[in-house]
Formats: sequence, structure tokens, C-alpha cells
Amino acid sequence: MEFLKLFEPITINRLYIINRIVMPAMALFYTGDYSLTERYRAFYRERAKGGVGLMTIGPVAIDKVGSSPFILGLFEDHQINQFLEFISELHTSTDAKISIQLMHQGRNSSEKTSGMQPIAPSAIPNPLSGEMPREMTGEDIEQVQEAYVKAALRAKAAGFDYVEILAGGSYLIGEFLSPVTNHRTDEYGGSVENRMRFGLEIITRVRNALGSEFPMGIRVSGQDFVEGGNTLAESCRFCIAAEKAGGADAINVTGGWHETNVPQVTSEVPPGAFLYLARAIKGKVGVPVFASNRLGDPELAEKALRSGAADMICWGRPLIADPELPQKVLMGRRQERVPCIGCNQGCIDAIFAGAMVSCTLNPRVGREASTEIREAEVKKRIFVAGGGPAGMEFALIASRRGHQVTLYEKGDKLGGQINLIGPLPGKGVYLEAVKSLELRLQSTEVKIKLNTPLTPEIIEAETPDLLVVATGAKPAELNIPGIDGANVISAWDVLCGDLPNIGKRVVVIGGGATGCETALLVANLGAVPAEIFSFLAYHRALDTVELRGLMYNGGRQVTIIEVAEKPAANVGISTRWALLKNLKLMGATIRTKTKIVDICDEYVRIETGDATESIPVDTVIVATGSVPVHDLAQTARFAKSEILVIGDANRIGKISDAVRAGFDSALLV
Ligand SMILES: Cc1cc2nc3c(=O)[nH]c(=O)nc-3n(C[C@H](O)[C@H](O)[C@H](O)COP(=O)(O)OP(=O)(O)OC[C@H]3O[C@@H](n4cnc5c(N)ncnc54)[C@H](O)[C@@H]3O)c2cc1C
Ligand SMILES: Cc1cc2nc3c(=O)[nH]c(=O)nc-3n(C[C@H](O)[C@H](O)[C@H](O)COP(=O)(O)O)c2cc1C
Repeated sequence: MEFLKLFEPITINRLYIINRIVMPAMALFYTGDYSLTERYRAFYRERAKGGVGLMTIGPVAIDKVGSSPFILGLFEDHQINQFLEFISELHTSTDAKISIQLMHQGRNSSEKTSGMQPIAPSAIPNPLSGEMPREMTGEDIEQVQEAYVKAALRAKAAGFDYVEILAGGSYLIGEFLSPVTNHRTDEYGGSVENRMRFGLEIITRVRNALGSEFPMGIRVSGQDFVEGGNTLAESCRFCIAAEKAGGADAINVTGGWHETNVPQVTSEVPPGAFLYLARAIKGKVGVPVFASNRLGDPELAEKALRSGAADMICWGRPLIADPELPQKVLMGRRQERVPCIGCNQGCIDAIFAGAMVSCTLNPRVGREASTEIREAEVKKRIFVAGGGPAGMEFALIASRRGHQVTLYEKGDKLGGQINLIGPLPGKGVYLEAVKSLELRLQSTEVKIKLNTPLTPEIIEAETPDLLVVATGAKPAELNIPGIDGANVISAWDVLCGDLPNIGKRVVVIGGGATGCETALLVANLGAVPAEIFSFLAYHRALDTVELRGLMYNGGRQVTIIEVAEKPAANVGISTRWALLKNLKLMGATIRTKTKIVDICDEYVRIETGDATESIPVDTVIVATGSVPVHDLAQTARFAKSEILVIGDANRIGKISDAVRAGFDSALLV
């Protein structure tokens, strides 16, 4: 496909932008005192060099109460200089235009980090943090509006090309817009007009301060996806009003609020799911519209632009994962991209835990300055055992550094345990991680030997300089009576496709990530898949209630037995709630603080506290974790080779741990 539209220049107000790719604001938490640290600079520098058209630095705080020291700040004049110098550097060395997102978090800020009670249109607690904000007075409103103006003027003085005001999400302006969070009885509450007033006044005041020729825009939620909140209709009204007020040279349309129960950005969200929001708003305004959320596939982005749904495409996490994505697409090398798999583990989950942003598949994120890949001084012959993410990443980087690498995989394909994740509901995209590593390996000299276990004999015969043991893990054994029964199978076997006739009653032992996700897979088996659901819905074959009945009923009773208090405790905050919601929709039962006692042919016995109970069962699936496989390191220790153990073989972790271990150790050898 030719990417004619994606690389077509566009002009917003007077700002000429080389292509249609926007990097939207993303809180990275690379500071502890609002300052533009070297970590931030290195992150942005790589993305600007990678060919993005409009790169957003931010969110940037307009005051202290609406933010935290972990995000950037522009609420004092002395904060201008750090940006001035950096933006000038980016303007000199790249073609990217630089945008700033000005943000006030409203009730989403926290006293724990800002040191101040959050403020909001009304004193309604934040459902996520439980914190109660203070209702803003007239004086507060004036102060916040003035803070926006001052921050915008500082942004202009710092050399930013474009100012974006965050008017969506569950942040302050969005909170004024929504009847859920705005219960005011003054001119800022009540009717839609009144609720829009706070945001429109800010937009107008900022426009007046910046002048008519300075490019500025807004970011809105196309729909809040919160019960009782704003819908697309109100969002369109706000966008029309903002354009009319002269304060929106462009409109960036994102999805719903943090507290929505409709997944917005996880791997479960079909790519392009929220494009219709941008398309609808574009139909109502005359200014350029940006579309957002899961549009990282370049072909999808190109098609979205060609279809007229939007004028620019936001690539947020796709540019975290691969800063060079625009260049790679432009140069016809898009197959080599590091994809965003929507796992959120290194990015959104990290910031919710107060940690710095990293990336599962790009181990350099947040460490760009200290992790350059340099040629090795001494070139080695290296054998890698295991073609999972740890072994593949190691082989890739070691080879790029000039080492002579042979990668052995005992199975018939690369990818290791990621191949088990692929069949899980909403996780098929994880297989793109394997495809990407395979394609990147193809551009190196790495010799790949599939169906070839690396053995102590081979090592002793060939004595490589270095043996890297990346042999992964195997399911942990569970010692209970009946575990060897014919009705017992491991989750790994289920995910390998070895699914016997499992019957209607299934018990899953272990309510961690693997147990819960495998339970969901099994619960979904008999239900109408999404494609057929949409076909039936499209043709109005059945009414909505009947359709839901087909979709949420797999005809199987699935029970998860978990000894701990919390199910899916090892799943990230941004995905856990959706996993539990999906299990509930599918009618699965989760029994926590419950132990399995034994397994019989037709039932399992469980123990909750002092009570014992029998559950009828046809099939038992065991998902009680995994243990490292590293025998090779022991058996080969008498060979003359140096030995390194990485990934799950060293310590059970996640894909990010495996990739990072592979990358970091390859930088050191
Ligand atoms: C069901 C399931 C769901 C998961 N979900 C997630 C998730 O959502 N997010 C996440 O981050 N992580 C998840 N994980 C964990 C993640 O997949 C692992 O942490 C990661 O794959 C470990 O990578 P690795 O390269 O160390 O080992 P592996 O992926 O296990 O790869 C090891 C490879 O070594 C090969 N091998 C073994 N012995 C030899 C030998 N002697 N010679 C040659 N080859 C050999 C194996 O065949 C295998 O291909 C999940 C795991 C499972 C099982
Ligand atoms: C770590 C992280 C922090 C984010 N912070 C903000 C923010 O402060 N302001 C904002 O408007 N959007 C924020 N977003 C949302 C992104 O701008 C973007 O809309 C979202 O990631 C979906 O797009 P994508 O699928 O291209 O990543 C954040 C996203 C991530 C991953």
C-alpha cells in the first residue's frame, strides 16, 4: 500500500506540518519536580527524529493543585527556559512541529502527590482514588482560567508551535462539561450551555492572549462512556462552540473517561473502534480533526485518512513502542516496526502505579540516552538456547553489535510462551510481537535453528564463547489427589490447542492471569463470536436482548478456584477490571480464598475457611503458575563456554522482563 495520505502535508492555522502523524500527550513520569529532565529530552528527541509530524510534549501542568510533580510544569516563568532551549534544538535538527498539551487534572489529581486537596466543579469523590475534591469557588475559576492563559503565553515564549488544551477525559474541563461531575447551580452548571462555559471561557481567553495567528486546538472525549455522562451529541456541540469561539484550529478526538467500563485502549479494543467519534465530529466542524486510540497499524491509519474520517492520526503508544515508525513506513520498512500490542503493562499500568513509562517490546524507552547499540569490541561466537522473547531479543541485539549468533529453538516456531497468549480472548495481537522479532531477526546474520534443542553435547562439541540459556519455563506441578486423572489438563495444553471434549462443567484451578484468561477462553467457546454478532445485529435478525443472550452464553459453567483474596492479582490495573467484567458477563464464577482439596472423576472438592464443598465437574484445568527451566545451565557448566541465564529461565516474569533481560545482557557481552 502507498501511504499517500499519511505523508501528505497539512496546514493548521499557519502551521505547516510535514505529515498527518500526531504524537498525542502522554504522561511519562520522567520527572519528580515538574522539570524537563534529560530522560524526557532523550525520549522526545528520538520521536522527533523518527519522523512524526506534530509531536506533543505534555501533559504540562498549568498550576500545582491540578497536577503532580511527576508531570511537566509551566506555571512559573523560570520554567520557560528549559523548553526554549530544547525546542530550538528540535527545530534545528528535525522537521517535527512541537505541540504542548496544557492540563488541569481537576479531581483526578491527588493530595498524596500534589500536597493539596484536588479541586473540581463539585465536591463529588473520585471513584478511582476515593479522594473528595473541594468545590471550586468563583475565585478558583478565575485563577485557573488565568493560569491557562499564563501557561499558554509561556508556551508561546518557549517556542512551541501549537498549544493544545485538554478539554476531554475525566480532567477539569471535562468535569465541568459532564452532568455526572458538575452539580453546580451557578452559571457554570445545569444546562449544557452552562457546563460548556468554563471550557469555552478558557479557550477564548487563551486565543485572545495568543493572537489569532497562533495555532491552538483542543482535545475532547468523543464520548465519555460513563453512565449519565456526555455522549457524542454533547461532544459535537462543544466542538462546534469551540470552533465558533475561534479557539480551535484543530480538534483532537479521543475516547472515554478513566472510569468508563468500556475498554478504550487495551488489546481487546478492535483497532479503529473509536474512529467513528472523529468522523462524526469532523462532519460538524470545518477545522482539521485528529482521530485517536488503537490506530497504530499504518494501513489502517492510511485508510482512515482516505475515508475522510479524520485529517490526522494520533499514534501514542505506537510511537512509544517504535519512535522510528513514521520513517519506517515512509521508507517501505514498516514490517520491521516494533508494534504496540496494547498490553499497557509498561505505560498506562506504570503511571497508575506512580512509576516511569517503559515499554514491553521496546526496552530502550525511558533509557534512550544510556542504551545506544554500539559495535562490540571483542566479537564472540554465541549460542542462544530458546527462541522466546528473551532469546530472540538477545540474538537480535548481539548480532547488531557484530557477534556471531546461532539461535536454537527446540520447537517448530519462535515466540516461546507468547504463542500461548495468542489464543486468549482479545490477545491475538500479541503474536505481532513474535512476527516483529522474527522480521527484525531476518535483517541480521543470526542463524536460526528450529526443531533443534540445544544440548550439552552440542555445546561441548562446538564450545561457543558464550552460551545464553533462555529456555523459559514450564507449568508448575500441583500435588493433590486426583491430579493425574483423565479429566485434568494444564492451561498450557489448552492454549496449545489441545482441547479435549471438555463438557459443560469446567473448574479452573488458579485465578491468576493465566487461570482467569483461560477460563474466559473456555467460557466463550460456545458463544456467538463478535463477527457473527455484528452480522446478526446489522441485519436486525434478532432484537438486542436476544443477541446479548447469544453472545454472553457459551453454554458452559466455568468456576475459578483461587486461594488468594484477589483474583487476577498479577494483571495490570488497566486490564484487570475488564477481564473480571468479561468473566462476569460470561457467567463464570470466581471462588476466592478457596483451596482445592482433591479431584475425582465427576467432582472436585474445595475448602473455603472451615467449609468443604463438592463441585460437579467434567474437566479440570490447572493454571497454578510456572517454574524456570534452566537445566542446560547446569548440565553445560563443565564446557569451556561462559554461561548466561536470562528471561523466565532465570526468574519467572513477563514479556517485558524477558525482552529487557535479552536486550541488557546483549549490550554487555
Ligand atoms: C498463558 C500465558 C499468558 C501470559 N500472558 C502474559 C501477558 O499477558 N503479558 C506478559 O508480559 N507476559 C505474559 N506471559 C509470560 C510471558 O509469556 C513469559 O514471561 C515470556 O514468554 C518469557 O520469555 P522467555 O523467552 O524467557 O521464555 P519462553 O517464552 O518460555 O521461551 C523459551 C523458549 O525456549 C525453548 N527451549 C527450551 N529448552 C530449549 C533447548 N534446550 N533448546 C532450544 N530451545 C529450548 C522453548 O521451546 C521456548 O520456545 C504469559 C505466559 C503464559 C504461559
Ligand atoms: C502512558 C500514557 C499517558 C497518557 N497521558 C495522557 C495525557 O496526559 N493526556 C491525554 O490527552 N492523553 C493521554 N494519554 C492517552 C494518549 O494520548 C492516547 O490517546 C492513547 O494512548 C490512545 O492512543 P494510542 O492507541 O495511539 O496509544 C496517555 C496515554 C498513555 C499510554
